[in-house]
Amino acid sequence: MFDRQLENIKDRNTIRVGATFEVPQSRYYGEYGGVYVAETLVPALIELEQGLLHIVPDEEFQNEYRRLLRDYVGRPTPLFHARRLSKELGVEVYLKREDLNHTGAHKILNALGQTLLAKKLGKTRIIAETGAGQHGVATATCCALLGLECTIYMGADDVERQRVNVERMKMLGATVVPVKSGTRTLKDAINEALRDWTTNVRTTHYVLGTVFGPYPFPQLVRTFVSTIGFEAKAQFTEAFGGLPDVVVACVGGGSNAIGIFSAFLEDDVELVGVEAGGLGIETGKHAARFQTGKVGVFQGTKSYVLQDEFGNTLDTYSVAPGLDYPSVGPEHAFLHDTGRVRYTYVTDTSAVSAFRMLAKLEGILPALESSHALAYVIENAAELKGKSVLINLSGRGDKDLSIVISYDGESKKHHGGMRNA
Ligand SMILES: Cc1ncc(COP(=O)(O)O)c(C=O)c1O
Repeated sequence: MFDRQLENIKDRNTIRVGATFEVPQSRYYGEYGGVYVAETLVPALIELEQGLLHIVPDEEFQNEYRRLLRDYVGRPTPLFHARRLSKELGVEVYLKREDLNHTGAHKILNALGQTLLAKKLGKTRIIAETGAGQHGVATATCCALLGLECTIYMGADDVERQRVNVERMKMLGATVVPVKSGTRTLKDAINEALRDWTTNVRTTHYVLGTVFGPYPFPQLVRTFVSTIGFEAKAQFTEAFGGLPDVVVACVGGGSNAIGIFSAFLEDDVELVGVEAGGLGIETGKHAARFQTGKVGVFQGTKSYVLQDEFGNTLDTYSVAPGLDYPSVGPEHAFLHDTGRVRYTYVTDTSAVSAFRMLAKLEGILPALESSHALAYVIENAAELKGKSVLINLSGRGDKDLSIVISYDGESKKHHGGMRNA
């Protein structure tokens, strides 16, 4: 229905805005994406599309967004050569330091862009979902900055796992709603947020936290996070006069990964996305959608989904709350099928030891989500020997300290099962 109301735009066409910004003009990525929603949401999605195509590229919006990224968020984030880790692995490792953003993760790029847009669209209330809490904190922060009312939905188990972030959100003036249905994690929080949005769509904007959901969300979020890749590419080229051999990022919904990959898609650079292998693919306790997922429609979009033979969504598991989600952004599904990006996974145990290794060798505590990308490079050091590898360090690990501290004891008992940690 929504499709018929819109002009058909060629796949994967983008408009470049300035040196560091790209606004996608397609509703689909190959067969993936689209708009699978209740009729009540269609007007809001049309309004959002108008925002994406006309307000976001506008000079006034760009100037305000860029000013806040510089003065409030602290961008550009640095590109750091991890020398001790590089020596240990025999691989030249460079980190795009998204952990140094205000609020501690790449999520602020999207939250700031969407809240600014919501304000321009005349909305007074913001809702969002969060898994690791980083998107919730980023959204609550931007709402405080811009004077918007804020409600954050969070799975009840994630509320337990990421207590510090829950307190941060409350301190910032947000209402945090623990969601007790389903697996009490991210997907259930998204369901609740969609329910709220359907009821309050006139006053409320839903700041979806990753490159997922019905069009134009994947394209809108991609637009804001693409800054990561453009910055990293310019920084790497300036420092080394060329491009990295490999770019690696963890993949939950896929925003930090598309953020960094987008600038390199046309280049001769290997791109690797790392999903959550949890307790191991064979245990069924993981969130590796490209390993055992099948194509399906989930929460408004068509992509790979972990599902049983009847199409029921399967429970997922990861030590990293931000990766614990049964589906993945539609552009990743497209990049998977075309072979442009290789998707693999690492287990909880590998991610936790990568966390510890970066802390000891470089003095950086990475988020458990980012630790998955790092663990891939550590595990595959022999194959990557002598190459230059750029890792998107999507966030910092302060929020994960209690999980990592209690991991050893727990893992001996439950093979790393941390659901109630
Ligand atoms: C630090 C960090 N990295 C990665 C992710 C995964 O999300 P995405 O795949 O959208 O980057 C999250 C999600 O909460 C996160 O907090």
